Amino acid sequence: MDKERKLIIAGNWKCNKTVAEALDLVTGLKRELAAVKEVDVVVCPPFTALESVSRAILDSNIRLGAQNFGENGYGAFTGEIAAGMLKEFSVGYVILGHSERRQYQKENDALIAKKAAAAHAANLVPIVCVGETLLEREAGITNQVVETQVRGSLAGLSPEQVERTVLAYEPVWAIGTGKTATSAQAQEVHAFIRGVLTALHGEAVAKRVRIQYGGSVKANNARELLGQPDIDGALVGGAALEVRSFADIIKNSI
Ligand code: PGA
Repeated sequence: MDKERKLIIAGNWKCNKTVAEALDLVTGLKRELAAVKEVDVVVCPPFTALESVSRAILDSNIRLGAQNFGENGYGAFTGEIAAGMLKEFSVGYVILGHSERRQYQKENDALIAKKAAAAHAANLVPIVCVGETLLEREAGITNQVVETQVRGSLAGLSPEQVERTVLAYEPVWAIGTGKTATSAQAQEVHAFIRGVLTALHGEAVAKRVRIQYGGSVKANNARELLGQPDIDGALVGGAALEVRSFADIIKNSI
């Protein structure tokens, strides 16, 4: 696929995989994806598997991401993980503002913006997730919701930091449900998001930001979705848990 921006496909393993299972998965991915240069491939295991996965992918083109981190750094923050701890395992990316964390941990745009700034300060690339619920889509306020999330979650970042940030548009109604946005629906929101970025930081910056689509991405819909001009990759949940399905998404997108 000839794209304006290099595709980035990330696997969000969520709260899944023991260390042994994580190693199995990543060993299979290394084998399947050894020749892939056209796409940035990222895996985001749970914290407990970061160290083993990081060792396993040392000699590969697979990159490592975390699913969250504590924005306050080291200190008396029981239960948190500091950016510096992630860097010990060569983590390069961190998913922020996933709808599950917005829903269950009550994360809001202000907190996500704080984490995004802390991520950049630590040289981690944030993958900032935004997306509307089914109720919001049905109420016709998708653009409004997404614009508020984009502006709020990127608040305070410099244009250079925004340029290096990855956004993920994930309609909440499409996550883990088997319902995918049609490629036209997804492209429409992606183009809208790029318009918001243009309004914020100008066209040159907006053109460089990679915007992933997420929500029931599978091998059989990846090509069509990733073929859209403003869709620059995918954030994959369920289908990232098996070698075959994740590798096929990547191969089908090339
Ligand atoms: P899904 O999850 O691919 O299982 O829909 C995507 C995500 O939550 O990032």
